[in-house]
Amino acid sequence: MVYTLLAAPPLWQSLVKDPSRIPDTVEELLRLIPLGTNSTFPRVAGDDVDGSWGRINAGSVVYLDVFAANRDPAVFGDPLAIVPGRNGPKHLQFGYGMHHCMGAALARMEIVTVLEILVARLPGLELAVPAVEVPGVHGTILRRPAALPVRWPSLR
Ligand code: HEM
Repeated sequence: MVYTLLAAPPLWQSLVKDPSRIPDTVEELLRLIPLGTNSTFPRVAGDDVDGSWGRINAGSVVYLDVFAANRDPAVFGDPLAIVPGRNGPKHLQFGYGMHHCMGAALARMEIVTVLEILVARLPGLELAVPAVEVPGVHGTILRRPAALPVRWPSLR
């Protein structure tokens, strides 16, 4: 998320100017940033399931694409836009139902706290290299920058 915010400086500056926007912005970043290569653990269909896609036979292993669901234009208007404070359906980045992420509240608190401290202490934080040059790790469970070269004015 820090990478995403620094790659879009107006977004970072919007949080510097008004840190009360952080929780709603984090919710949008959770919706839009794919956590890993697969969005969920596999499920095994307990019954035959018919839908617009055809039939999923009982016993089939299914990977549901939550990342696509989180960008479904029928659910989220202008889905690729970061719109803090969207009303309506919630994203599925923390899963749904009986296996909903047990750490969701902690994760939200950690992310919001880190960003609140960063915008307060290092408001001039910026990427030290062009965003496209930041190396990525594209793991099955976690994708993230391999390193995040940054600078802030007092060190120049
Ligand atoms: C941004 C951070 C996080 C994201 C996006 C995330 C996402 C998810 C998702 C999507 C699932 C459900 C997977 C599925 O149903 O296939 C899940 C499950 C789980 N998460 Fe997280 N998680 C995050 C952080 C954490 C943290 C910080 C903890 C613990 C401290 C945690 C603990 C768990 C546990 C225990 C489950 C399994 C719940 C179950 O199967 O009943 N997660 N998480």
